[in-house]
Amino acid sequence: MPLPKFIPPQRFLISFFLLISTAAVFGRTGPQNHPWTNPSLSPNERASLVVKEMTLDEKISMLHGTGMAGLSPLSPLIAQSNGCAGYVPGIPRLGIPPIQMCDAAYGVRMSGENGRYSTALPSDLAGAASWDLDAGFEYGALIGRELRAQGYNMSLGGGVNLTREPRNGRTFEYMGEDPVLAGKMVASVIRGEQAQHVLGDIKHYALNDQESGRNAVNVNIDQRAARESDLLAFEIGIKESDVAGVMCSYNRVNGDYACENKYLLTDVLKKDWNFQGFVLTDWGGAHSAAKASAAGMDHEEPGWIFYGDTLKTLVESGKVPQAELDDHVRRILRAMFATGVVDNPPQKSVVDVMGGFEVAQKIAEQTTVLLKNDHELLPLDASKIHSIAVIGPHADVGMISGGGSAQVDPPGGNAIMPPGKGQTRWLEPVWFPTSPLRAVRGKVPGAQVHFNSGADPDAAAALAKNADVAIVFAYQWESEDMDLPSLSLPEHQDELIAKVAAANPHTIVVLETGGPVTMPWVDQVGGILECWYAGSRGATAVANLLFGDAIPTAKLPLTFPKSNADLPHPTIIKPPKTSLPRNDPEPWKQIAAGLPAFQITYDEGVKVGYKWYDAEKKPVLFPFGYGLSYTTYSYSNIKVTAGPKPAVSFTVTNTGNRAGAEIAEVYASLPAAADEPPKRLVGWSKVKLNGGESKEVSVEVDSKFLSIFNVQQNGWQLVPGDYTFLVGGSSQDLPLKETIALK
Ligand code: BGC
Repeated sequence: MPLPKFIPPQRFLISFFLLISTAAVFGRTGPQNHPWTNPSLSPNERASLVVKEMTLDEKISMLHGTGMAGLSPLSPLIAQSNGCAGYVPGIPRLGIPPIQMCDAAYGVRMSGENGRYSTALPSDLAGAASWDLDAGFEYGALIGRELRAQGYNMSLGGGVNLTREPRNGRTFEYMGEDPVLAGKMVASVIRGEQAQHVLGDIKHYALNDQESGRNAVNVNIDQRAARESDLLAFEIGIKESDVAGVMCSYNRVNGDYACENKYLLTDVLKKDWNFQGFVLTDWGGAHSAAKASAAGMDHEEPGWIFYGDTLKTLVESGKVPQAELDDHVRRILRAMFATGVVDNPPQKSVVDVMGGFEVAQKIAEQTTVLLKNDHELLPLDASKIHSIAVIGPHADVGMISGGGSAQVDPPGGNAIMPPGKGQTRWLEPVWFPTSPLRAVRGKVPGAQVHFNSGADPDAAAALAKNADVAIVFAYQWESEDMDLPSLSLPEHQDELIAKVAAANPHTIVVLETGGPVTMPWVDQVGGILECWYAGSRGATAVANLLFGDAIPTAKLPLTFPKSNADLPHPTIIKPPKTSLPRNDPEPWKQIAAGLPAFQITYDEGVKVGYKWYDAEKKPVLFPFGYGLSYTTYSYSNIKVTAGPKPAVSFTVTNTGNRAGAEIAEVYASLPAAADEPPKRLVGWSKVKLNGGESKEVSVEVDSKFLSIFNVQQNGWQLVPGDYTFLVGGSSQDLPLKETIALK
């Protein structure tokens, strides 16, 4: 082939190879003159035009993945996968690219084994602690950019299961205990991802609120409670983001597995919520073909136990209607057109590492919650400090991260990797190389900063005794595929903190935890910062907050209870021991066939998190919505205007002299006839204020957030009566109150 004159041969060759390699990842896109290439048609029209041209085999090929070791057989096509959780081949003759899926909860997964790099953002729960929709968008946009740079066009993040069970090992991957906060925050993350032309995903639908026995458990919950709690988080998240995919979960709900649950998938998701995207299973979450198809499951992952030949035969024999099959395919294609993955396929490029660090740090500063600050111990004044004791497991080298399929690989590997060991395995904690010791030293170059791991609490206390300030970095690791035995810190860290605090009244605890922990030492320490899993630049962000180079603004997206005994279920309900054959070469078959069910009954119903503690009148350690700053705020002048969207206006004043941002929270108490817990969050506003400044704020309240779900009418209903609106800086500090009648 003669080379066009204007391209130097070398450049031509490079472009040619680029084209070939892009085609290998995204599939050759074939002739571009198909009618559906017209971007002025709606995504649905474009998708329907493609479906008309597809053969049955092509349709079936879009409805399942190509396998994953240990979870399904492997197709030879997996060789074209970009190397992560899911690969669905494209249809080159129709110009449809493959779907390259990767887990991306707080960053893109599996970069290590693919020789790539990903930024770790603070955990998803931390993201929710920002209460900041712009930060959420930025969080998603970074994930979207890094997915594209690594050659993926679909994210498998977007976890929004409510923290009904705080010992759930995936609490860090979710967005807290309140459906309105969680739903709005997850929507902002998905909008950020999809703005980068990446298919987003919200998971795990639904009520997958603990890991123990997740493939067997049958969750029992009444419809009203489900719709007003866990499902409301999904409803808001899905509706406010036009998310491409919803991942149905492993568990059963009221008898049927979630991935073949007609109530969840069709009646609620596709009909009531008008979800336009596609339902994909969690990995190994499918249990049938005909039943699942009729219930609304569109796509099976990671293999084709049901949605390969079995589904094809069912369609050929008329047992699964052609229209039903076409709807599954159309939904996937519609999502691909709507998010732009057909028109704007990703091109591999170098991840913006420095840009990622900046975003991760900025978000960590906005997501770390100041829980305690006696006598204004914080921020530390670098000019007055001569000695600091930095104490805690691995605080010299790194900070802990969340595990499982959310795990992001740290640059250079696990910071605590023993020499000679190559990789960290599933269910092994990974520490990111962001060193608290180094970050603290950087703030006080002239001071003595010494480290003690805390392995010997007495030695740590001795070090603390001689320092001006002791900072204990305490951690609690969690992961998919496990639940925590309790909310206590592991590795005798409670004893460590108590001993250090006894030796030095200026003790600050920095918590690196997936969710809430109990704190028997709470009254002994001067300061507590909760930085969750703080991500790639966690140590820099924490040091900035400790020394006042950044100001804390975050608030708790969940309650810290006083003890495990105060939880709705004091102990986690575990599956009965089963005697599954060991060394089964095809273990997925038993899971697909359905494991014997055990029961969990969520009889606390809608009373999740603060709604439980409020209703049961149980005092808590730190309430939902709580968080201090280095300045203070006051609230005045509440006014509520009735209407289809009642507006709550009020004034917030920064009563200190430092600039900050206050998350002003609005709650409502419903009329007694509604029979609801004492109050619920209905809105909030993050208000930036200079020292001494006041601003009037108005929060519009969606009437759904004031309603109850009426099961008989299958709809939301505003119960006529008196509604009390409460405004303030935490769910237990609500100085403003105004009651109006609504009907
Ligand atoms: C997890 C999902 C994840 C999938 C693919 C499953 O074990 O539950 O959240 O997206 O694996 O890695």
